[in-house]
Amino acid sequence: SSTPPSTNTTIIDIHTHTYPPSYIDLLASRTTVPYIHRPSDGSDPRLIILSSDDDPSKPLHQRGRPIDKSYSSWAEKLSFMKTHSVSISVVSLANPWLDILPPTTALTTAQHINNDLNASCATQNAKNDPSARLYAFASLPLSATPDEIVSEIHRLPSLPNIKGIILGTTGLGAGLDDPNMDPLWAALESNSTMIFLHPHYGLPESAFGGAETIARSGHVLPLALGFPLETTIAVTRMYLSGVFDRFPRLRMLLAHSGGTLPFLAGRIQSCVEHERDFTSNGGHKQGPRREIWDVLRTNIWLDAVIYSKAGLKSAIEAAGPEGAGRLMFGTDHPFFPRVDGKEKDGEEDGGKWPSVTSNLEAIGGVGVGEEDVRGIFGGNAAKVLGIEI
Ligand code: URA
Ligand code: ZN
Repeated sequence: SSTPPSTNTTIIDIHTHTYPPSYIDLLASRTTVPYIHRPSDGSDPRLIILSSDDDPSKPLHQRGRPIDKSYSSWAEKLSFMKTHSVSISVVSLANPWLDILPPTTALTTAQHINNDLNASCATQNAKNDPSARLYAFASLPLSATPDEIVSEIHRLPSLPNIKGIILGTTGLGAGLDDPNMDPLWAALESNSTMIFLHPHYGLPESAFGGAETIARSGHVLPLALGFPLETTIAVTRMYLSGVFDRFPRLRMLLAHSGGTLPFLAGRIQSCVEHERDFTSNGGHKQGPRREIWDVLRTNIWLDAVIYSKAGLKSAIEAAGPEGAGRLMFGTDHPFFPRVDGKEKDGEEDGGKWPSVTSNLEAIGGVGVGEEDVRGIFGGNAAKVLGIEI
């Protein structure tokens, strides 16, 4: 059973995805990861986006996961919101975003998809339904030239329903600590753009003992461990390379409560302080000038998509004096649907998804005050992203 938040609480979902139909078509036109396989027997298409999804020991129609209309339909998104009492969603393109576009068409495709997202939100919001509003995080054309990427960053403030960007961990191909990312950070910082950092690539298969070991438990290792560690590594590399020293007003929202960053921040800080190579300890390399704790308290916000009180408590503690004030509710819809075959509305629990109710329960029971709980559910996102409630 779930503890629904009290009725006067506005729920804002800042971690919720979509694949626009044009993106679905793009994936369906491909035959290597990421791609969509449409079985000839008319059964649900298969979303084969992670490298471990493309398991050659399985026939195509069993690889990856089934993908139904919840992945691209606004009606499905709104119905999901209603089922879970979410009144505002900040929707982002799902992974791997625009990372796969050829450089020549990347900018125009990004403009098209970002305009499309903004327009879909505008159409919904024109209905003036306070219990069903939509905003979006835009995507960047990372395979385009740095000038083109920066031009898109500067265009986004003209799209009123865009509340930030979603970003993967690969940057221009060499990671987020690549010095060539600096013009992007500068543009994002100067526009105070919220950067929703989200994983996709996980860890190399060898980290899990190889493809066969991974396949024994399907998506468990890549999603439960690969994703959060990817995020942790990406943001730690940014920190170590001085990105937060050079761009002290950068704003980042980390998926899955920061991966494992809140839990490991003390160890990161201690290793930095004991690194003989760093000038602060008599070495010859410039280490980070700020404490990781300071970055967590000023540059970083965390979603609350961690499914347990233990994870939430670590996130709240790592966020510093603002604590729960830096956390925001999310669902990860349409990923993690019901798998019990009772997913249709009203069949059981009013069609609620356990992946959502478990997060609602963890937040409700985490032991912070009612005001803080309301903040996590929606108040913080409203304030930080500039959404009227
Ligand atoms: N699996 C994905 O590929 N992406 C998500 O966002 C969640 C689960
Ligand atoms: Zn997600």
